[in-house]
Amino acid sequence: MSIIDWNPALSVGIAEVDEQHKKLVKLVNDLFEAMSSGTAKQVVGPVLDELVNYTVYHFATEERLFELHHYPDAAQHIVVHRELTKQAKELQAAWAAGTSTLSVKVAFFLRDWLQNHIQKEDKAYGPYLNGKGVH
Ligand SMILES: [Fe+2]
Ligand SMILES: [Fe+2]
Repeated sequence: MSIIDWNPALSVGIAEVDEQHKKLVKLVNDLFEAMSSGTAKQVVGPVLDELVNYTVYHFATEERLFELHHYPDAAQHIVVHRELTKQAKELQAAWAAGTSTLSVKVAFFLRDWLQNHIQKEDKAYGPYLNGKGVH
Protein backbone atom coordinates (compact mmCIF):
# COMPACT_ATOMS: atom_id res chain seq x y z
CA MET A 1 0.00 0.00 0.00
CA SER A 2 1.25 3.48 -0.78
CA ILE A 3 0.56 6.76 0.99
CA ILE A 4 1.96 8.89 -1.83
CA ASP A 5 1.85 8.21 -5.54
CA TRP A 6 4.04 9.79 -8.13
CA ASN A 7 1.98 11.93 -10.50
CA PRO A 8 2.81 14.48 -13.20
CA ALA A 9 1.85 17.36 -10.87
CA LEU A 10 5.02 16.53 -8.89
CA SER A 11 7.28 16.89 -11.94
CA VAL A 12 9.73 19.78 -11.86
CA GLY A 13 10.54 19.24 -15.57
CA ILE A 14 14.09 18.01 -14.97
CA ALA A 15 14.66 14.29 -15.55
CA GLU A 16 17.45 13.75 -13.01
CA VAL A 17 15.50 15.52 -10.24
CA ASP A 18 12.23 13.73 -11.09
CA GLU A 19 14.01 10.36 -10.87
CA GLN A 20 15.39 11.27 -7.45
CA HIS A 21 11.98 12.47 -6.25
CA LYS A 22 10.47 9.17 -7.43
CA LYS A 23 13.04 7.32 -5.35
CA LEU A 24 12.15 9.47 -2.30
CA VAL A 25 8.44 8.74 -2.89
CA LYS A 26 9.27 5.03 -2.95
CA LEU A 27 11.27 5.26 0.27
CA VAL A 28 8.41 7.06 2.07
CA ASN A 29 6.05 4.28 0.94
CA ASP A 30 8.58 1.62 2.03
CA LEU A 31 8.78 3.33 5.41
CA PHE A 32 5.01 3.33 5.77
CA GLU A 33 4.96 -0.34 4.77
CA ALA A 34 7.61 -1.19 7.35
CA MET A 35 5.92 0.82 10.10
CA SER A 36 2.43 -0.50 9.48
CA SER A 37 3.43 -4.16 9.44
CA GLY A 38 4.03 -4.67 13.15
CA THR A 39 6.25 -7.67 12.50
CA ALA A 40 8.88 -5.68 10.63
CA LYS A 41 10.15 -3.33 13.30
CA GLN A 42 13.76 -4.08 12.47
CA VAL A 43 13.09 -2.93 8.90
CA VAL A 44 12.09 0.60 9.93
CA GLY A 45 15.53 1.78 11.09
CA PRO A 46 17.40 0.86 7.89
CA VAL A 47 14.65 2.32 5.66
CA LEU A 48 14.66 5.55 7.69
CA ASP A 49 18.47 5.63 7.41
CA GLU A 50 18.27 5.15 3.66
CA LEU A 51 15.66 7.90 3.37
CA VAL A 52 17.81 10.35 5.34
CA ASN A 53 20.96 9.47 3.38
CA TYR A 54 19.21 9.71 0.04
CA THR A 55 17.63 13.04 1.05
CA VAL A 56 21.07 14.49 1.82
CA TYR A 57 22.31 13.22 -1.55
CA HIS A 58 19.27 14.62 -3.35
CA PHE A 59 19.50 18.07 -1.74
CA ALA A 60 23.18 18.21 -2.76
CA THR A 61 22.15 17.48 -6.38
CA GLU A 62 19.69 20.38 -6.37
CA GLU A 63 22.16 22.72 -4.68
CA ARG A 64 24.82 21.83 -7.27
CA LEU A 65 22.37 22.80 -10.04
CA PHE A 66 21.58 26.09 -8.26
CA GLU A 67 25.25 26.94 -8.02
CA LEU A 68 26.05 25.92 -11.58
CA HIS A 69 23.24 28.05 -13.01
CA HIS A 70 23.21 30.91 -10.48
CA TYR A 71 19.64 30.29 -9.33
CA PRO A 72 18.62 33.57 -7.67
CA ASP A 73 16.47 31.96 -4.94
CA ALA A 74 19.13 29.42 -3.95
CA ALA A 75 19.84 30.89 -0.51
CA GLN A 76 16.28 30.61 0.77
CA HIS A 77 15.86 27.17 -0.81
CA ILE A 78 19.01 25.95 0.94
CA VAL A 79 17.65 27.22 4.26
CA VAL A 80 14.56 25.03 3.71
CA HIS A 81 16.80 22.03 2.87
CA ARG A 82 18.71 22.53 6.11
CA GLU A 83 15.49 22.64 8.12
CA LEU A 84 14.04 19.55 6.41
CA THR A 85 17.30 17.66 6.95
CA LYS A 86 17.27 18.63 10.63
CA GLN A 87 13.69 17.38 11.04
CA ALA A 88 14.46 14.08 9.30
CA LYS A 89 17.62 13.53 11.36
CA GLU A 90 15.71 14.25 14.58
CA LEU A 91 13.17 11.57 13.65
CA GLN A 92 16.01 9.19 12.81
CA ALA A 93 17.72 9.88 16.15
CA ALA A 94 14.46 9.51 18.08
CA TRP A 95 13.79 6.22 16.35
CA ALA A 96 17.32 4.95 17.01
CA ALA A 97 17.06 5.96 20.69
CA GLY A 98 13.75 4.18 21.02
CA THR A 99 11.99 7.37 22.08
CA SER A 100 9.87 7.59 18.95
CA THR A 101 6.28 6.70 19.72
CA LEU A 102 5.09 8.17 16.46
CA SER A 103 4.90 4.94 14.43
CA VAL A 104 3.04 5.46 11.15
CA LYS A 105 2.72 9.17 11.91
CA VAL A 106 6.42 9.44 11.03
CA ALA A 107 5.68 8.17 7.53
CA PHE A 108 2.75 10.56 7.12
CA PHE A 109 4.88 13.45 8.38
CA LEU A 110 7.63 12.62 5.88
CA ARG A 111 5.08 12.25 3.09
CA ASP A 112 3.78 15.79 3.71
CA TRP A 113 7.33 17.04 4.19
CA LEU A 114 8.36 15.67 0.78
CA GLN A 115 5.18 16.57 -1.09
CA ASN A 116 5.01 20.15 0.19
CA HIS A 117 8.66 20.83 -0.56
CA ILE A 118 8.42 19.49 -4.13
CA GLN A 119 5.20 21.39 -4.82
CA LYS A 120 6.37 24.68 -3.35
CA GLU A 121 10.11 25.27 -3.49
CA ASP A 122 11.21 22.62 -6.00
CA LYS A 123 8.63 23.42 -8.66
CA ALA A 124 9.68 27.06 -8.41
CA TYR A 125 13.16 26.37 -9.84
CA GLY A 126 11.90 24.23 -12.76
CA PRO A 127 11.21 27.00 -15.28
CA TYR A 128 14.39 28.87 -14.33
CA LEU A 129 16.63 25.83 -14.84
CA ASN A 130 14.72 24.81 -17.99
CA GLY A 131 15.56 28.26 -19.29
CA LYS A 132 19.23 27.45 -18.67
CA GLY A 133 18.94 24.32 -20.79
CA VAL A 134 18.49 21.86 -17.90
CA HIS A 135 15.73 19.33 -18.68
FE1 LIG B 1 13.77 18.04 -4.29
FE1 LIG C 1 14.60 21.20 -2.80
